[in-house]
Amino acid sequence: MRFAIVGATGIVGREMITCLEKRHLKIDQLRLAASPRSIGKIIKTAYGKITVEGISEELFKNSDIALFAAGSEISLKWAKKAATLGCIVIDNSSCFRYDPKVPLIIPEINPKDIFKHPGIIANPNCTTAIAAIPLWEIEKHFGLKKIIISTYQAVSGAGKEAMEELEKQTCDYCQGKKLEIKNFQHQILFNLIPHIDKFQENNYTKEEMKVVWETRKIFSRPNISISCTAVRVPILRAHSESIVVETKKKITPKKIREIFKKTSGIKIVDDPKKNSYPMPLFASQNFEVQVGRIRQSLIFGDYGLEFFVSGDQLLKGAALNAVQIAELLIKRISK
Ligand SMILES: NC(=O)c1ccc[n+]([C@@H]2O[C@H](COP(=O)([O-])OP(=O)(O)OC[C@H]3O[C@@H](n4cnc5c(N)ncnc54)[C@H](OP(=O)(O)O)[C@@H]3O)[C@@H](O)[C@H]2O)c1
Repeated sequence: MRFAIVGATGIVGREMITCLEKRHLKIDQLRLAASPRSIGKIIKTAYGKITVEGISEELFKNSDIALFAAGSEISLKWAKKAATLGCIVIDNSSCFRYDPKVPLIIPEINPKDIFKHPGIIANPNCTTAIAAIPLWEIEKHFGLKKIIISTYQAVSGAGKEAMEELEKQTCDYCQGKKLEIKNFQHQILFNLIPHIDKFQENNYTKEEMKVVWETRKIFSRPNISISCTAVRVPILRAHSESIVVETKKKITPKKIREIFKKTSGIKIVDDPKKNSYPMPLFASQNFEVQVGRIRQSLIFGDYGLEFFVSGDQLLKGAALNAVQIAELLIKRISK
């Protein structure tokens, strides 16, 4: 099994290498590609010291699976080409997620959808993936009627330069310097910005609509009632979300806790008396999504629940999910 990572020097790309290592994927070859700025850099991995190369047709001709994490422009330019050269692409951009021929996969939810792909498989948006893990359990056991999500998204969701911007603003503030703004619409330090990606005609942002479009596709529920408000907060890593649901069947916090306890990918962190609840600081670097503050909804009563989640968007929201998709493919190929 020959792997390539495109965008290997970025924050998602780096995490992809770590996920391959931590999950002990047996691979015969790992090649790392990035922009011309990084060509020749050496990255130490469990698969050896690897020299970063540029993107080329030769790379895809000689790779079986390529994990793409270099942004939309690169995905649009190279993903279809790679697929025609016989390399299966697992893409992290939003370019192909809404194409009906391209499966959009969360392995815990719709693994079977993977089997019909046109050489490209899409990885969901980070906010969608983190919320979908607990929401799917509610859908399966109680049926979802309505979902309302408010997000608290880390700056690393916008890439390594955005993460560096928050760090630099913090240092500059402490030194009394003028703060530079490059990656966000406003200063992010000591602020929050309810604006991620472009505003759409319906006055929601594209980030918010991604949650709607993608949840519907992954759950195969094209009419599910769902809305989202997405907010960038001055946190380095891990997205958090406040989630309110109305269900078809009666639901209680006790019943859902029992289910979440057995759900792969969820860690219940929910002991308010001990100040224990999901937080980005402790969700960072973890594969599981933390779920807590589980309570009966004041609005929907017996048919509703409210809870809070924190999950590492670089992992379940990107690199980990992509590597889990690769694991499914490998299982299928080796059958
Ligand atoms: N960050 C997240 O939480 C997150 C979550 C889900 C999905 N995603 C998606 O994952 C992708 C990567 O995001 P990221 O946050 O990792 O971004 P990033 O930290 O800015 O990394 C971008 C990567 O792309 C490479 N790259 C840029 N221009 C290139 C070019 N012309 N040719 C080849 N490689 C090029 C960069 O190489 P250099 O280092 O050489 O510049 C770097 O390796 C994006 O599509 C993003 O939407 C991100």
